[in-house]
Amino acid sequence: MAARRVGMLARLLLCAQRSQVLRPTHRLLSCPGTVAADVKREEQSSRSVETDSEGRTPKKKFSELQKERREQAQRTVLIHCPNKISEKKFLKYLSQHGPINNHFFYESFGLYAVVEFCQKESVTSLQNITRTPSMDTEAAIPFKSRFFNLKMKNPSSQTSEQSCIQCSNHSPPSSKKLSELLCYAESIDDQLNTLLKEFQLTEEDIKLRYLTCSLIEDIAAAYFLDCTVRPFGSSVNSFGKLGCDLDMFLDLDEIGKLNTNKTSGNFLMEFQVKSVPSERVATQKVLSVIGECLDHFGPGCVGVQKILNARCPLVRFSHQASGFQCDLTTNNRIALKSSELLYIYGALDSRVRAMVFSIRCWARAHSLTSSIPGSWITNFSLTMMVIFFLQRRSPPILPTLDYLKTLADAEDKCIIEGHNCTFIRDLNRIKPSGNTETLESLLKEFFEYFGNFAFNKNSINIRQGREQNKPESSPLHIQNPFETSLNISKNVSQSQLQKFVDLARESAWILSQEDKDRPSPSSNQPWGLAALLLPSVVNSVSLAKKKRKKPASERIKNLLESIKSSSPENDTNTNGKRTVSTQA
Ligand code: GTP
Ligand code: MG
Repeated sequence: MAARRVGMLARLLLCAQRSQVLRPTHRLLSCPGTVAADVKREEQSSRSVETDSEGRTPKKKFSELQKERREQAQRTVLIHCPNKISEKKFLKYLSQHGPINNHFFYESFGLYAVVEFCQKESVTSLQNITRTPSMDTEAAIPFKSRFFNLKMKNPSSQTSEQSCIQCSNHSPPSSKKLSELLCYAESIDDQLNTLLKEFQLTEEDIKLRYLTCSLIEDIAAAYFLDCTVRPFGSSVNSFGKLGCDLDMFLDLDEIGKLNTNKTSGNFLMEFQVKSVPSERVATQKVLSVIGECLDHFGPGCVGVQKILNARCPLVRFSHQASGFQCDLTTNNRIALKSSELLYIYGALDSRVRAMVFSIRCWARAHSLTSSIPGSWITNFSLTMMVIFFLQRRSPPILPTLDYLKTLADAEDKCIIEGHNCTFIRDLNRIKPSGNTETLESLLKEFFEYFGNFAFNKNSINIRQGREQNKPESSPLHIQNPFETSLNISKNVSQSQLQKFVDLARESAWILSQEDKDRPSPSSNQPWGLAALLLPSVVNSVSLAKKKRKKPASERIKNLLESIKSSSPENDTNTNGKRTVSTQA
């Protein structure tokens, strides 16, 4: 296929660089026996609940899932273990404090165990026999948390009894592995589903995310008793890729609300509080103090940055033991509601997540998205674009937000800061779509649709599911679904939007050539989705563009010419294999 041949040497160099991007080793060690079986069973059931589109399996509400996970996390502890450990003895030792419901090991610069007890009391019992370490050269700040360090009393006597703990991998696939998996897939539909399977968060990763929030909640509770730290964003909206950040929301709203219904008599009691000029100042003050707390006392919290002057003030830090990059915000209830909405969209049809994952990986492979804030498009905006596109199909694959609002009952009613965030929360009451388009066709249509979208005059709006006139002049306008006067992609520059459009057009073209020239699986050459993840000719063209400007039509003509005339020998690297960029 001609397009694939262009600039292969440059691509291969870039691919090689990408494949060297370092990630923390994050291997999971699965546990043999009944507990492992439980984990597997739970994993299978939770995945089928999250992905089933037939409406046969009753699906849990987002709030029910969150409550369950949170409660599970509160019974769970995180233990840094010696590298060589007898799993049997370890479990026996912990069982003194009560029965264990579940456990797994993972490696992230050391060996860690996540142990879920059946009862919360077991955690207290374990804490009661745990001591603060004494240090020779440094001083310890005492802090009674659920993050422990396990030491062996007589390491030499235990070495002979160490069992071999089985490892299972917890990292996204390497570039080479993904390339192979995609090349050997049977169809483009199969490729999209493979990519989803390889990149989606595992059951253990999800548990570790809720546990991390729960550990941070313990720290915040030292100041704000009864506060809650809830995960939001891609950790919970079903669109998270392995390695994505952990967005947390410090919820202070429940404080002091607990017993309001139980008051009787002629009086009303209120807490004495300090007041500040605005909600924003209150948020800044709360986050400032929590940031200090994490920095000084938070076990495993490093690199704490207080970013208090941002539009949405936050504290950013790394949680070393879990390997998560964390963003902690407060007063961010609308974002939590957005996560719930995305979760519903993700669960309504199995094609939604497959499309979103592929588009996110595609965008990352072409540096359209970045982990550094800037003028690029965000994963959140890309997800909105996929949802909007799926609302525009005929018949629609996804309903509009306004339609979801019409299905809502009294219990679903939700007004946050004056914004109407009401929509139906029971997935089982939403009728599945009758649309039967394949993922291959949807992917191609997606690129064609946005390759030709009138971004200069139209806005993307998932509330109404149709294009609308842009209310302001930002290059890309995607209406915030709840705060409807806001544009979630206000930061995107014209050049970044143009890059997106160019790449979308190129990808549509590559897919349109697929049927004509699909390599045989044995040739191990990227095709379909794998070809789309290769660094693009558009990138090199845009570099050249800076040097010599030519009319667009001429540039496209030249591009097509160069694609047609490029030689087949550029197609492969020295091993006769092509490499696919996967870092996402
Ligand atoms: P990744 O972290 O990139 O995997 O995706 P994410 O969806 O978690 O995005 P991000 O961490 O950037 O943001 C977390 C959440 O904050 C999103 O899921 C949204 O709910 C919300 N959010 C992000 N950006 C915006 C924005 O520009 N406007 C609004 N209103 N909400 C946003
Ligand atoms: Mg995130």
